[in-house]
This record gives sequence, C-alpha cells and structure tokens, in this order.
Amino acid sequence: GAPVEINVSKIEPGQLIRAEWRGKPVYVVRRTEEIIAGLSTHDGQLKDPQSEVPQQPDYAKNEYRSIKPEFLVALGVCTHLGCAPTHHKGDFDQHVDGVKDGFFCPCHGSKFDMAGRVFQSVPAPTNLMIPEHSFPTEDTLLIG
Ligand code: FES
Repeated sequence: GAPVEINVSKIEPGQLIRAEWRGKPVYVVRRTEEIIAGLSTHDGQLKDPQSEVPQQPDYAKNEYRSIKPEFLVALGVCTHLGCAPTHHKGDFDQHVDGVKDGFFCPCHGSKFDMAGRVFQSVPAPTNLMIPEHSFPTEDTLLIG
C-alpha cells in the first residue's frame, strides 16, 4: 500500500486524528507537554514499559515510542482481539487511578497509556503497534 501523508500542523494540542493505512486505523495524537510529562508516572503499572517486545520500529523504541515526543502514531487496533480502543482525554482516571489520559478498549477492558503502552491485569498482551513512519518535513507525517 502507498504511504499516507498527513499535515500535522492542523492537529490541535491534545487532539487525536484518525487515518487509514493498509486498511487499518491509525491514531495520530499531538501530545501536550502535560501528557508527555505524564508518561513517566506509571512505569510500574505497565507490562512492557521499555518496549522490549518488538511492537515498534527501532527508532520508536524510546520512552515516547515515537520519533517526536509530541506525536504519537499508533495503530488503533487493540492487541487482544483487534477492537478500536477509545481515546480518553482528562478522564482516564476512571480506568487507572492517577492517569488522566489514555486508551480504553471497550471490548474486554484493555488499557493503554498515551504512548500506547499496555497496563497490567488486562487481556491485551502487548503494547499498541507503532507503524513505520517518518517526518519528511516539519509539518508532514508519512505513515508507511
Ligand atoms: Fe481489546 Fe479484547 S479486543 S480487550
């Protein structure tokens, strides 16, 4: 499939936009400073905080699971049985105490943080998949 191009300058801070790549939904989130800072608060509650399982390209094996800390690019596909996790902005603490933003899978309750890292005690075995992507220019994201 052809790469998908997205103009990220149009994405508001905190906003998630959906794209489609190879028939799969891709979530692109412009993370705020607060969301980025929030990623370091709950490593002990995650199954794979250091992204040891190869669910991302090598260049995204870092604490943000991304090229730029500001932009999360992840498949919107739960690693349990493939449902679409719901983005929670500011009210994720109804699912994980003290964590304000994240993704909740409505099918069987899997929970992921804003780097797509899976929480413990849920059915999804691994972090959300990060697709191959790049930034050919400051404002252009290329998925695939
Ligand atoms: Fe997401 Fe089962 S498909 S928890």
